[in-house]
Amino acid sequence: MKKVQQHYDEVADVYDDRYDGRRGKCYHKHICDHVMSVLPRDGFLLDLGCGTGLFVQRYVEEGGRAVGLDISPGMVRHGRHRCPESGFCVGTADVLPFKDETFNALASLLAFSYVPDPEGMLRECYRVLKPGGRIAICTLSRTVFTSIVPLFYQVGEKVGLKKVGVGDFDEHYYTNAEIAGLFRDAGFEDVSVGRCSFAHLNLADPVFNLARKVEPFVEEKLPYLAYNVCAAGKKPKE
Ligand SMILES: C[S@@+](CC[C@H](N)C(=O)[O-])C[C@H]1O[C@@H](n2cnc3c(N)ncnc32)[C@H](O)[C@@H]1O
Repeated sequence: MKKVQQHYDEVADVYDDRYDGRRGKCYHKHICDHVMSVLPRDGFLLDLGCGTGLFVQRYVEEGGRAVGLDISPGMVRHGRHRCPESGFCVGTADVLPFKDETFNALASLLAFSYVPDPEGMLRECYRVLKPGGRIAICTLSRTVFTSIVPLFYQVGEKVGLKKVGVGDFDEHYYTNAEIAGLFRDAGFEDVSVGRCSFAHLNLADPVFNLARKVEPFVEEKLPYLAYNVCAAGKKPKE
């Protein structure tokens, strides 16, 4: 975990160049839309692995209140700057410094793959959610495309490539069945799992533009080709 934290501290100042630039914005907004579509609006959100606060900002703009937590102090510093009205804290997603039943919305975007104890994280999510509260996690899925990503990242690390997310972090990419099982084992109900984002921001411009055009078709008819898995669930009402 220390390695992941150090990496994100190192790239914190350039992180938004990747996800808040022209193409990155498009890719990230698409993921945010998926997550937003299954969460209550105008609720109280906890965003785990919140990074520079991109989703916290979105949630607040849609009328809610939000708190972000991230393992990297550098990323949290940017989050505070972006959303001064929201709360941010440094910490790990599997040990949460919040009281039971505090939030009615819980999100995590592009961070779950790093968490070494996913069962522990979901247990904590369940604990801090109010009964009836909703959770949505969007993370890189295991696909034909992503199966070579760890190798690329290992090589990237060896040659000293300093890019956001590039490093050998022992990430875990989830299948639909795997993440659905984790949600159910943690006690969530109404569990649904879908795929999103066929147009990955790493693609060259013409391919990205083409991929965007066919993205709705792929997500509906060929979901196993999309890059991210989006899992959602609800804490049962007592
Ligand atoms: C790819 S970034 C995603 C950031 C943000 N969610 C977004 O969508 O822009 C991954 C983030 O997860 C954070 N992270 C990784 N492991 C974590 C952990 N165990 N607990 C909390 N945050 C973690 C990193 O510091 C980094 O900010």
